[in-house]
Amino acid sequence: MPLKDSYLLPAAADMHVHLRNAPGPIAQLVTPTIRQAGVDVVFVMPNLAPRPVVSVDEALEYKRHLQAIDPEVTYLMSLYLHSSITPDEIRKAKKAGIAGVKAYPKGATTNSEWGVVSFEPFYEVLKAMEEEGIVLNLHGEAPCSAATDVTVMNAEIKFLPTLMDLVQRFPKLKIVLEHCTTADSVKTVRSFGKNVVGTITAHHLSLLVDDWSANVNNYCKPSAKTPQDRRALLDAVVNSNGKFFLGTDSAPHDITAKRGKGNTAAGVFTQPYALGYVLTALEEGIARSDIAADAVTEAALRGFLSEHGRAFYGVAPATRNVLLTRDGQTVAESFKGEGAEVVPFRAGEQTWSVEWQ
Ligand code: DOR
Ligand code: ZN
Repeated sequence: MPLKDSYLLPAAADMHVHLRNAPGPIAQLVTPTIRQAGVDVVFVMPNLAPRPVVSVDEALEYKRHLQAIDPEVTYLMSLYLHSSITPDEIRKAKKAGIAGVKAYPKGATTNSEWGVVSFEPFYEVLKAMEEEGIVLNLHGEAPCSAATDVTVMNAEIKFLPTLMDLVQRFPKLKIVLEHCTTADSVKTVRSFGKNVVGTITAHHLSLLVDDWSANVNNYCKPSAKTPQDRRALLDAVVNSNGKFFLGTDSAPHDITAKRGKGNTAAGVFTQPYALGYVLTALEEGIARSDIAADAVTEAALRGFLSEHGRAFYGVAPATRNVLLTRDGQTVAESFKGEGAEVVPFRAGEQTWSVEWQ
């Protein structure tokens, strides 16, 4: 049995988004597309440039600017794990309602140059986070290096020992392994208790390595992997048990940064159609027999898209619903604003539409 033609679901939560500097041209362009996708709560990444968000005051200022763009969205804010952060700043963060601290291994991805080389200098900060219930959000990749035999294909697997070590040292710390892309990560996250979860993006549910090697708009970190890995991600969506929820890692870059001179910027822009892409990927997964059609229940969709993420971050359940309809809209060729142009994932293709009820 294929999917139904439409689903009425609670408003979604997207627990991993890049909105870029606010005020700023890309934030102005992409922030209004959050609700377009059927989402009303987002966890906002702190990897701004030229300066990441490393203090509570900066995070609150950033939040005010985002609220000025769309006050209807709930913005969960984060700090960038950095040597300037102290245990006291963590306690201040808790009081200020900051939800998490994002760790970027230095050199692993966009704006990670201020990131972590070793977690050891951060143990006191992690201890304070464990005590305060502040989430540790992990970009789970070892930096690529020929010397350590790490490439984009095994970078995530090479990070898993670090995850295991952190879980062992800080057994009560709430940890999110962000944007899981491998069967090994799914298995590892499942092996821990409720305090360790994983986010899964919309695009990793449909992409493989061959798709980004041929198209810069599909390239991101961590990059999409093998058919076996994709099957594990699809299975994690429909058999989440609260361990996996949506975090799109929507990562807008100006068209010139994707297609200009030099290396392309890592990041896939999925914000405006996040829910539609997930439903499209599930349908395609059923068509390939990667997942069983009857595994895609309404309860599984509600859990993955809305309930599990809110529960993990202590956000109240959604009060509004969204109606998703098969092939109800065509993805725009690009989003153009004052001083920015961003090409969305699956530009020009059909996907599910979203209407607020
Ligand atoms: O592809 C990515 N883009 N991965 C990340 O981790 C960061 C993001 C960005 O900020 O563009
Ligand atoms: Zn990200």
